Amino acid sequence: MPEIASVVGLVKHYYLESVVVEALRGVSVGFEEGDFVALMGPSGSGKSTLLNLLGCLDRPTRGQYVLAGHDVSDLDDDELSEVRSRYLGFIFQSYNLLPQYTVVENIEIPLLYQGQPLTDEKRRRCRQLAEMVGLANRLDHRPMQLSGGQQQRVAIARALVNDPHIILADEPTGNLDSKTSDEIMQLLKDLNAAGKTIIMVTHENDIAARAKRVIRLRDGLIESDQRLPG
Ligand SMILES: Nc1ncnc2c1ncn2[C@@H]1O[C@H](COP(=O)(O)OP(=O)(O)OP(=O)(O)O)[C@@H](O)[C@H]1O
Ligand SMILES: [Mg+2]
Repeated sequence: MPEIASVVGLVKHYYLESVVVEALRGVSVGFEEGDFVALMGPSGSGKSTLLNLLGCLDRPTRGQYVLAGHDVSDLDDDELSEVRSRYLGFIFQSYNLLPQYTVVENIEIPLLYQGQPLTDEKRRRCRQLAEMVGLANRLDHRPMQLSGGQQQRVAIARALVNDPHIILADEPTGNLDSKTSDEIMQLLKDLNAAGKTIIMVTHENDIAARAKRVIRLRDGLIESDQRLPG
């Protein structure tokens, strides 16, 4: 499979007053279209930093990032947000839903950010996505009225609204019990089987074991990169 994303010599420094934190110290890695990657490693090893750079939520200090054939290393904020809405969908550990909005309205949010009017067609698609993730009978609920697993399903539907090439997930099951984690993993596996590339941070071995490839970070560098059998 061709590569959908690749980084070369990726370095990320954070500057805190006079202290420099070297969060990534030269990471080079490519991601094939249709892959399902688990990013693992100790706390502070740079997993979220790498995911945020892959997600165009931040810019590297040094290094190159090529996404879908475009060099996105040096884009400005507007260009990055354009790239995000075109290619990328995000899922976070804490769901990041807006409490005042319903399930369907939360799924519509990425469309609103694009400043385009919400057509009936787009609204219909958001309802279909809610149904696809198993929330057909919760369309008008607000996040507070949903379980953690249901909230994560809303976040997954929201991540899919722009039909992204890559889904980036930072500990998507981190707040969920094991049965609910299982259901969310099944949903991600189904999306992967349907062609979505998935890059997911996790601390849990049994979650990582359901990916196709496990990349371990340590101290801002790749420590190992292993393709799983099957
Ligand atoms: N915005 C920031 N400003 C300063 N330092 C940061 C910032 N974000 C992360 N860091 C530092 O960069 C390093 C890597 O952080 P990162 O969040 O990528 O780790 P992680 O592997 O995701 O850890 P965890 O498993 O705890 O989520 C850490 O030392 C962290 O303290
Ligand atoms: Mg993290």
